[in-house]
Amino acid sequence: MKGRAVAAIGALIVGGAHASASGNGVVQWDIQRSQRPQEFRRLRNRASTFEETITNEQARGGYFATCRLGTPAQNLTLQLDTGSSDIWVPDSNARVCTKKTGQGCALGTFTPDQSTTFVVVGQGDFNISYVDGSSSIGDYFTDVFEIGGATLRNMTMGLGIETDISYGLVGVGYAVNEAIVGTTKSLSSVYPNLPVNMVDEGLINTVAYSLWLNDLDASSGNILFGGIDTKKYKGDLTRIDIYPTVQNLFTAFLVALTSLEGVSSSGSDTLTSQHFPVPVVLDSGTTLSYLPTDLASQLWKEVGAIYSHDFGAAVLPCSMQNSKGYFSFGFAGPNGPRINVTMDELVLDVTSGQPPVFASGRYKGQDVCEFGVQNFSSAPYLLGDTFLRSAYVVYDLVNNQVGIAATDFNSTDSNVVAFPSMSAQIPSATVAPDQSEVTNQPTVTSPGYAASKGFTETGEASAAAGMPAAFGTGHLVMVGVTMVLTALGSGVFLIL
Ligand SMILES: *[C@@H]1O[C@H](CO)[C@@H](O)[C@H](O)[C@H]1NC(C)=O
Ligand SMILES: *[C@@H]1O[C@H](CO)[C@@H](O)[C@H](O)[C@H]1NC(C)=O
Ligand SMILES: *[C@@H]1O[C@H](CO)[C@@H](O)[C@H](O)[C@H]1NC(C)=O
Ligand SMILES: *[C@@H]1O[C@H](CO)[C@@H](O)[C@H](O)[C@H]1NC(C)=O
Ligand SMILES: *[C@@H]1O[C@H](CO)[C@@H](O)[C@H](O)[C@H]1NC(C)=O
Ligand SMILES: *[C@@H]1O[C@H](CO)[C@@H](O)[C@H](O)[C@H]1NC(C)=O
Repeated sequence: MKGRAVAAIGALIVGGAHASASGNGVVQWDIQRSQRPQEFRRLRNRASTFEETITNEQARGGYFATCRLGTPAQNLTLQLDTGSSDIWVPDSNARVCTKKTGQGCALGTFTPDQSTTFVVVGQGDFNISYVDGSSSIGDYFTDVFEIGGATLRNMTMGLGIETDISYGLVGVGYAVNEAIVGTTKSLSSVYPNLPVNMVDEGLINTVAYSLWLNDLDASSGNILFGGIDTKKYKGDLTRIDIYPTVQNLFTAFLVALTSLEGVSSSGSDTLTSQHFPVPVVLDSGTTLSYLPTDLASQLWKEVGAIYSHDFGAAVLPCSMQNSKGYFSFGFAGPNGPRINVTMDELVLDVTSGQPPVFASGRYKGQDVCEFGVQNFSSAPYLLGDTFLRSAYVVYDLVNNQVGIAATDFNSTDSNVVAFPSMSAQIPSATVAPDQSEVTNQPTVTSPGYAASKGFTETGEASAAAGMPAAFGTGHLVMVGVTMVLTALGSGVFLIL
């Protein structure tokens, strides 16, 4: 727990530079037109898959990939984000990078005038805001971009000239959620973002990729463009629908969370919410997960977490990471896929140094950790890294489906299967059977908290709910542990 920030930055620099893997021999050429034809231009005869190692940066609360930009190439380490759709990089003159106080931009900056292939294509047009209030403003430009051994010769990106984020992002969401669409309020300003450009350049066959984040304690996972890796998950890969966010437009990885169960040695509880089916966005750029307050507070009660107003978050003793209880997240109806998330994935350090301690109450003297599921009072509800690590997720942006399975933590095997063609279905996946039942509103009841004893070994979890959560003074030095990098984009969260 201690000194993790320093260790993680070391791992980041070492861990980023892995090359691509490709799934050979599965490529066919019966390309179909998709429903968004202007985004998919020519397809050339080299399609396969590209894999990039992504580094788990716990101190920064996200997953980072090493990318190369410009001519000659400048190295930048960028956060991978399924919740937004632009690549952007901090300009080397951005104040956040040059100012004397603070850490600067240790993950790299971009110096445009040192790239001979840099072209401004939208001066002052780049303006992205994220759900957590951070933002980046500057120009759109095109240049050479490399990730996972794939080279895009003409990639449109944002240059963050005025920003409060000290590193750039690789947004791999739907192109219609690009910041430019929000700025111009026009879908005609959509440009081919990274996954679309990879298809345009013939590098992959369809607009799809798979994300394997791996264990909280593992230093890296990977993103595989254009294919799936059947050795990175257990059980079946199930296809579930992505829902349109507004006017039949697919802009975010919005899926239906239809059940949530708390399970432990002492029993199991079906948690309920007036919000079921809960529309949740699968967002790798968000560190924690955020559910409606009525549902989140039931999870807290199971594990004995306390909402701290000082902290603005639900917290619990760090020792709870040893609890054997888990939560089972169900999607897409009664017989849809279930992802079990164990407590060791749900208890996070709050600082990189000496943790704060509970100053009073039942947990007095124990180290304070943050619980991986927090609450929002309104949409967008988000399943971030605390959920996504336990799942292998395939994002199919052409068929508007997600393939989901239980992850195989720390798997070292690999069997890459490429999507054979444009708009092909997710390989090896079966469709969830009862998605039509997703609209059913369940009855809201209060669970009996039968599982709570098994979460907390003392068996007095719910009794802790009313405890004051005071912290020892002078300890609460927060690092940027939690990011909510869901782009506000084109105002697309007017959901359900
Ligand atoms: C960029 O990274 C590559 C390896 O990915 C390395 O060979 C090269 O020296 C790096 N360049 C700079 C300027 O750091
Ligand atoms: C960027 O967008 C935000 C939110 O839409 C807006 O308030 C701000 O004025 C814009 N900034 C610039 C420089 O265009
Ligand atoms: C580069 O990409 C932009 C945006 O998609 C496009 O408008 C432009 O024509 C492309 N330039 C070249 C040389 O292909
Ligand atoms: C995965 O590897 C990490 C780092 O070696 C280890 O801490 C963790 O316990 C492993 N997880 C599983 C489920 O084996
Ligand atoms: C997940 O939890 C549910 C409920 O306890 C259980 O039925 C199922 O077998 C578990 N799945 C896996 C893959 O462990
Ligand atoms: C989260 O829950 C706490 C405790 O119920 C409440 O005080 C707080 O306002 C909620 N936060 C949000 C964003 O809804």
